[in-house]
Amino acid sequence: MKKAGLIIISIFYLITGTFATEGMWIPLLLGQLNEAEMQKMGLKLTAEDLYSVEKGSLKDAIVSFGGFCTGEVISGEGLLLTNHHCGYGQIQKHSSVKNDLLTNGFWAMKKADELPNEGLTATFIVRIENVTKQVLAGVSDDMEEGARYMKIVENSKKVVSLSTKDTHYDAYIRPFFAGNEYYLFVTETFKDIRLVGAPPSSIGKFGGDTDNWMWPRHTGDFSLFRIYADKDNKPAEYSPDNVPYKPKHFFPISLTGGEKGDFTMVYGFPGRTQEYLSSFAVDQIVNVINPASIAIRDVALDIMWKDMMADDEVKIKYAAKYAGTANYWKKWQGENRGIHRINGVQIKKEREADFLAKINSNKKWKEEYEILLPEFEKTYKESEQYELAYNYFIEVCWRSVEIIRFSSRFRDAVSKLESGNELSESDKENLKRHVKAHFKDYHLPTDKKLFIALFTKYDNDFNSLEPDFFNTVQTKYKGSYEAYANKLYDKSAFSNPEKINDLIDNLNQKTVKKLKADMAWQTMTSCFDNYTNNVKPGIENKEVKLEILNRKYLEAIMAIYPEKRLYPDANSTLRVTYGKVDDYEPRDGVKYLNYTTLDGVIEKYVPGDEEFDLPAKILELHKNKDYGQYAVDGELRVCFTGSNHTTGGNSGSPVIDAYGNLLGCNFDRNWEGTMSDIMYDPDMCRNITCDIRYVLFIIDKYAGATHLIDEMKLVKPNYQRAGIGNIPLIPEAPVQKK
Ligand code: ARG
Ligand code: GLU
Repeated sequence: MKKAGLIIISIFYLITGTFATEGMWIPLLLGQLNEAEMQKMGLKLTAEDLYSVEKGSLKDAIVSFGGFCTGEVISGEGLLLTNHHCGYGQIQKHSSVKNDLLTNGFWAMKKADELPNEGLTATFIVRIENVTKQVLAGVSDDMEEGARYMKIVENSKKVVSLSTKDTHYDAYIRPFFAGNEYYLFVTETFKDIRLVGAPPSSIGKFGGDTDNWMWPRHTGDFSLFRIYADKDNKPAEYSPDNVPYKPKHFFPISLTGGEKGDFTMVYGFPGRTQEYLSSFAVDQIVNVINPASIAIRDVALDIMWKDMMADDEVKIKYAAKYAGTANYWKKWQGENRGIHRINGVQIKKEREADFLAKINSNKKWKEEYEILLPEFEKTYKESEQYELAYNYFIEVCWRSVEIIRFSSRFRDAVSKLESGNELSESDKENLKRHVKAHFKDYHLPTDKKLFIALFTKYDNDFNSLEPDFFNTVQTKYKGSYEAYANKLYDKSAFSNPEKINDLIDNLNQKTVKKLKADMAWQTMTSCFDNYTNNVKPGIENKEVKLEILNRKYLEAIMAIYPEKRLYPDANSTLRVTYGKVDDYEPRDGVKYLNYTTLDGVIEKYVPGDEEFDLPAKILELHKNKDYGQYAVDGELRVCFTGSNHTTGGNSGSPVIDAYGNLLGCNFDRNWEGTMSDIMYDPDMCRNITCDIRYVLFIIDKYAGATHLIDEMKLVKPNYQRAGIGNIPLIPEAPVQKK
């Protein structure tokens, strides 16, 4: 009986492939921790093929794109693929009402037409090292936290400077497992990154915010850039003399695609996850912080949207701001629903009960770790009002009401004048740069509406921890933020580019008084003073406590559950996550497919609609079924889902098959699974990828940019699929170009 049971279990294991798809793993440790499992799931490569310092490996085709997204090299000439929403800011910067690249798309038909982007970078990882020993040298358990921190900083500086000595590389060290381990990342950053191609938003952002974070999805969320280097293939500032970068590795592109059950991995720069939070923290996020943030953004989004719809110029100016605000507004809603659905707080509590039982069985553990959970509870409770107030400060004063953030750009200059120094020419130029950047995408009436609505809400929601100008509004403006704003926006120099430039020209130790009497300046100062004097101490106090508690908690988890293979939370460092192409059942009675097609794009088409309009050319290509070599059984795949554990920052990441070929460009997660930043549910959490064949179709058939297809390496692996991973007959069949 027993034996039969075991066999049934192992068959079940094989057939359903219930492998661990949770986790974002450190490339350096794949050989030790993941290789065997990955190969069992279908990977045909070794850990060494994915990450190697000696020879070219997959990591050499992956960059941190601007520090906020991921990109991958897809040709020997430094062609870089990322998402449309990652390149969005750059595409927007090159756009005007007359030459609107957001609406029309952009295709450089030759290299000379590729557009430079000041400030945009692409960073490769040269190597990774575990430097825990060096960083913690001389650090002891009984050390005071401040001294510990100073020691770590000092040690880290040494390690970093040694690791980059005599090279053009940079390096940084990041804590892992809440400071129980430290890793060094040596990097190479390219600074001449040019825009090569972008579909119109009606393709690249098809479905807009309605479809964002949702499956089934039909978005062609990609854009193309190119890395330029100097004549020695080294990073250089922009110069017309720079040449396309020659990578150590670039991704071959699979025309075969991925089918349900095929192994996939995502290799990129996930930003932040919090998988080891206590139940108290999860409770606070879903029941207090998320609802508050969502409510603030409800107000801001409504105002922006109405003004954007009323005026095309406002629409362009606020496009990126709106998308940025809408994105997490929607994510938090999905996250909350997901955590509630799985009863996440309860699950955490059950795990904590197990943790308690375990430490109670061991005297030493009990002594060391018993205080952790009660301390977590106390710390989160005590700091809740500060956390909320901090949230309002960030969301209202920093993110939404732009006149506040803009005037805060003058704080350094004012301190300099007040400490008895005059401004230099370059100080003034710097200020003028802020003026230019600010007013380029500014619409005063919109900002004023945001001011009135958001500060009214802020005041209504709080009784303490609020800026003292709220009292002025009550006493001198009869509680009306509208009356206050009318005066502010009318009188302030910060609402007018000429006035503020004039003020900068004449700014010195004498005239600074005038600036300081400005109503926008005073309002800004009031917000910042409230933050600095009332809110920040509470936040810092909490952070210091949590730093110690989290470190101890992770140490305890590692000690108590040595059999568990733990992965560190995402921290914007390079990671590999793996799973398979997979579908899911969002709710009872409903099952989604793991892919969508162009037919579905056409189904969603609403002529003239802000989110669901389509270019005529797409309709025509669809009508003629003109899909070239990119079709599967007469259909064109557009997006697909998989069980890879991803998060923000993974946007643009390569989604890779068992052989290291590119299947697509990761761009989102499903609504039901966005809670994976806090808790991962293998049945529900899916990443969403734009199928590479849709990308190629758009470049080739829609844009006619066939020269770009020519520089890529297209392959057509021939798989026999046996349900678990890819089992190849012929690993790679020759591919006919076009
Ligand atoms: N949700 C995706 C991510 O987190 C895509 C965001 C861009 N799209 C949008 N409609 N705002 O970045
Ligand atoms: N769209 C996200 C990004 O910008 C990736 C989706 C996610 O959060 O999983 O990185």
